[in-house]
Amino acid sequence: MEPNFQHAEPFRIKVVEPIKKSTRAERIEALKGAQYNAFRLKAEDVYIDCLTDSGTSAMSSEQWSAMMLGDESYAGCKSFYKLEASARDVFGMPHVQPTHQGRAADYIMAQYYAKPGKYALGNMHFDTFHGNAELIGAIPQDCVIDAGLDASSAAEPFKGNIDIAKMQRIVDEHGKDSVSVIIITVTCNNNGGQPVSMANIRAVSEFAKKYDIPVVLDSARLAENAYFIKTREPGYENKPIKEITREMFSYCETATMSSKKDGLVNIGGLIVTRNDEFFTYANQMAIVHEGFITYGGMSGRDMEALAVGLQEACTESYLEYRINQVKYLGDRLKEKGIPIVEPTGGHGVYVDGRRFFPHIPQHEFPSQRLVVALFEEAGIRAVEMGACAFGSKDPVTGEPIWPSLETMRICVSRRVYTNNHLDCIVDALDYIYQRRDSYKGMKLVYEGPILALRHFTAGFELL
Ligand code: F0G
Repeated sequence: MEPNFQHAEPFRIKVVEPIKKSTRAERIEALKGAQYNAFRLKAEDVYIDCLTDSGTSAMSSEQWSAMMLGDESYAGCKSFYKLEASARDVFGMPHVQPTHQGRAADYIMAQYYAKPGKYALGNMHFDTFHGNAELIGAIPQDCVIDAGLDASSAAEPFKGNIDIAKMQRIVDEHGKDSVSVIIITVTCNNNGGQPVSMANIRAVSEFAKKYDIPVVLDSARLAENAYFIKTREPGYENKPIKEITREMFSYCETATMSSKKDGLVNIGGLIVTRNDEFFTYANQMAIVHEGFITYGGMSGRDMEALAVGLQEACTESYLEYRINQVKYLGDRLKEKGIPIVEPTGGHGVYVDGRRFFPHIPQHEFPSQRLVVALFEEAGIRAVEMGACAFGSKDPVTGEPIWPSLETMRICVSRRVYTNNHLDCIVDALDYIYQRRDSYKGMKLVYEGPILALRHFTAGFELL
């Protein structure tokens, strides 16, 4: 094999955005003002922002130039047809309805596929579908494989897979009519951006066909999932990415997408489907809630950028860079002995809060404490995905129920930070890890009225 000396980023930087450095005293003030909640910090006070990978991508020169071609006509604009063609190419689905972002697509999908008193099964439902399902009175039920819930297991390459036996048990116990939909989230955001294998998507589809249950893919990170299939699943190593994405979507009837991730844009969402009846419904719902069918809440220029971004995200050189940059961060943290969810997933590294701070019990929010420490020491903003975000309460007794996964998610925005930035994260976490015994937990002092959304507005005190 020829040696490869072209292992750096497959782009060069044309525009830069300055970021502000801060003092520890300023960061402590900012944390107090935000009641120790990362969502309530001002972005300006953040040095490296790893809160989310959503809507934070850097666009390419091709995308910026496409934006100038935006056709802002109310109906039938050229930009819609470009987006439709690009989405058909990536998903292999005939019908395309844009929405203003992913949760709007979730809403329309949920209104059609989720039913009061019936199960919506999935690997791990994302918050926004969860919220929609709850409002409808449906029962969102996670059926991810057990390894997916174990932050310390490293051997399984597809920790986003659904455990078919768990779904079977629900069908056996409650009957097939108790399930209205199965939603596969690719990649699985809640447990580490973990991929779902093609074999699993196929098996879920066969299970669903047997019981006449529709399958939907929540596909915010579809290209990252396809790259994991290509690099981890035998038989796919020589297949082009778009052949893999089209096969993934051949097993479902509908997909929703938050385009703010693998669309490489700052705003937008999509519904794609091969169900004619649902498409007609989605068109009507779009007109009421989003905008006319051919823009669905997006401007023409944003649809232009998305049409290009979808194609760029399915480019192998881009994905190789993307997945390996996240892996670089994971590998460097592992070298320091820092406990992370392994193998590293697609859009970030998830630090295991339980193993990082074993002396802080879950009801004292160890992962949130780590978020606060990371910001205090380095101005780096990550996000808690543990006791606060996923905690629930017993509907009868009101007793808290603590989630199995307790992590701090460090998201890596697409094409935004260099490995030098990632090294700052490693250095800061290493520093905190060496002093881990000196940290105490936190107390929740404010939560909003909707439990599923409490992490966005919660207030904490340091113990
Ligand atoms: N589905 C998944 C799997 C997501 O990760 C998100 C958003 C959505 C749907 C909703 O899409 O934000 O465009 O309305 N995830 C972001 C995150 C917010 O930080 O993980 P949206």
